[in-house]
This record gives sequence, structure tokens and C-alpha cells, in this order.
Amino acid sequence: MSLQLAPSAQYNVAIVGATGGLGKEVAKAFLTHYRPYFASIVAVVRDASTVAARALAEQGAELRQVNSAEPVVSFAEAFKGVDAVVNIANAAASVDYHNAIFEAALNSGVKVYFPSEFGSDLRWNDFPGWDDVSWVQKREHLSYVRQLSGGKVKIVAVSTVGFDTANMTYTVVGSPDTKIALTAKLDIGRALAELSLLSLSPESASRVPDHVRIAGNNKSYREVRDIVQNVRKVLGVPSDGEIVLKTEDYEKFKALVREEQLKSPSPHPLRHLMLLSAEGKMDFSTNDNDLVNPGQKVWKWKSVTDYIQEVGGRPFC
Ligand SMILES: NC(=O)c1ccc[n+]([C@@H]2O[C@H](COP(=O)([O-])OP(=O)(O)OC[C@H]3O[C@@H](n4cnc5c(N)ncnc54)[C@H](OP(=O)(O)O)[C@@H]3O)[C@@H](O)[C@H]2O)c1
Repeated sequence: MSLQLAPSAQYNVAIVGATGGLGKEVAKAFLTHYRPYFASIVAVVRDASTVAARALAEQGAELRQVNSAEPVVSFAEAFKGVDAVVNIANAAASVDYHNAIFEAALNSGVKVYFPSEFGSDLRWNDFPGWDDVSWVQKREHLSYVRQLSGGKVKIVAVSTVGFDTANMTYTVVGSPDTKIALTAKLDIGRALAELSLLSLSPESASRVPDHVRIAGNNKSYREVRDIVQNVRKVLGVPSDGEIVLKTEDYEKFKALVREEQLKSPSPHPLRHLMLLSAEGKMDFSTNDNDLVNPGQKVWKWKSVTDYIQEVGGRPFC
């Protein structure tokens, strides 16, 4: 393993939401590749007796349980001695709950905080009055914590898009040749471990911006479709013929999403993500990859081909 910094194991990191879909992969990166770089890796959970929590403990995480009815006090207790907090709780946790996580981190003397972003770059959204509800909440949280921090906590918002997000469908809005960012969840974890270490080290902290964009790959739907078909051919996956790329007209789709979102907000940002893809706002060809993994010397980003092979040529099932 060749990382940017020598392992010193002096810092403690806490992950909130480590039992979740993205969280468990992020925790895995910390608990495997980055284990020697931290004195302790704490998983802060609401119930330490669940299968997911116990699996984290078996991998070497220190479990600390919180009482979600009293989040500020409870999280402050859980963050004792912690230097960096990675928040990967989901949108079912209210904005108040996310805010309480940060308030507790601030009160406990945490130095670095990653809010639960890990999606498209929300600064670019242009859905006035009809944005996705969970994204409005993410922005509200980010603005609250930046203001409350008063410069005491370094806050790093990370935009990145995982391989198996629902937007990887074959229905494309606009051009199927517009690229979208696709990153393996384990690589998101490695990037977060690097960002934690870089942000905690006095020599490198100033190199980490407030907002970081990470993309293991940038591929168009057409390229992804071709990769899937090639891998299927190689693996001998039975085929019903060429995968069809169905395209929708951008303006018509946008008008429809706007109208429906204003009437009744959707519980999932899928259609907003399709619009962002069409607008080229999911293309993270300009990114901060070299900050976390200069010249891929720290690790090799998992490619879309690797991923499609891993899932047996069936990424969308
Ligand atoms: N880039 C990507 O590919 C990608 C993919 C998925 C998600 N994301 C982002 O990553 C974050 C987590 O998403 P996810 O899909 O991984 O989430 P998830 O699995 O649905 O939930 C994550 C964790 O949130 C906590 N949680 C759930 N409901 C809660 C509630 N009502 N109150 C308090 N805590 C609650 C749970 O942790 P405990 O039970 O341990 O407390 C849970 O394990 C979100 O910001 C999401 O947008 C990014």
C-alpha cells in the first residue's frame, strides 16, 4: 500500500451511518486499507445489536450507540476523543438530526466534518422552487454547519456518484453521449480516508478545499451500454439482442418533472438526476481526484468494466 502520508495512527475517526448502503463500503475502506492510519475507527449507530452493526465490530470498528431521541447530548458522548466525523446518515434522518450531529461534533472538539452529501454537485442545480426535497435539506444542513462552525471545524462537502445509483438506467434524457461520473463505493471510502488524513494533518489541511469532486470514471450512457454488452458477450450471459437506449426530449421531460414536483414532491431524486445528467452537470471530468489519489499512485480507481464484470454483466437487476 502506498499512501500519501506515513501511517501514524494518531487520529480517531467516527462514521455515522456506517451500517448503510454507502456507509458500509466507506467503513470497509477505513477498516481495511486505512486501518494503520487511525488509532480508532468508531461506528456510531442507533442500535449496536443489529446484524449490520455487529458486522462492523467484527471488522474492527469500535461501536458506540446513540439515543436518537437525544441526539446532541448522545452524539457528543459518542464523539469524545474523535478528530474527524464522516456523516453518511440518510435523508430519513431529519435536517434537525443532521444538524444535531454537527452540533455535537463542534461541542466535542472535532476538527474535520464531512456532511452527508456524496451525490451530484448541488451547487449547480437550477430547479427553482421544484428541487428535490432531500437535496434542499442537504443544502440547508451545509449552510447551517458552515455558519455555526465559525471556522472551528473544517467542513468538506464531497460530491461523487456511486456505480449502482438508480440513475444508471437505459432511459436517457437528452444526448446518450453526455458523460456522467461513476465511482465505486469502496473508492469513495478510500477518497474519504485520504481527505480525513489530509485535512487533519497541519501540513496538508490547506490543500483540501471546502468542496471536493471525486469521479473514478466519467462515461456516457452509450459507453456504459457498450461495456455492459461486451462484458455480457465475454461472460456468455444470455442476450435478448442489443440493449436499446431510449431517449427522452430534455425540454418536455423538464417541463413534466417541474409540473409534477410542484404538485407533489417525489420521494426520490431519480428524475432530477436524469435532468442533471442531460445538462452535463453529472460530468465530473474536472475533479479533485489528484488531491486524494495523485496519478492513481495510491490505488487504481475501479473501472466500469471491472464493476460490470463483478456483477456478472447484470448491473441493473
Ligand atoms: N454516491 C453514491 O453512490 C451514493 C449512493 C447512495 C447514497 N448516497 C448518499 O449517501 C448518504 C447515505 O445514503 P444511503 O443510501 O447509504 O443511506 P441508508 O443506507 O438508507 O441509511 C444510512 C444510515 O442512516 C441511518 N438512518 C436511517 N434512517 C434513519 C433515521 N430515521 N434517523 C436517523 N438515522 C437514520 C442508519 O444508520 P444507523 O442505523 O447505524 O444509525 C442507516 O444505516 C446519503 O446522503 C445519500 O444521498 C450516495
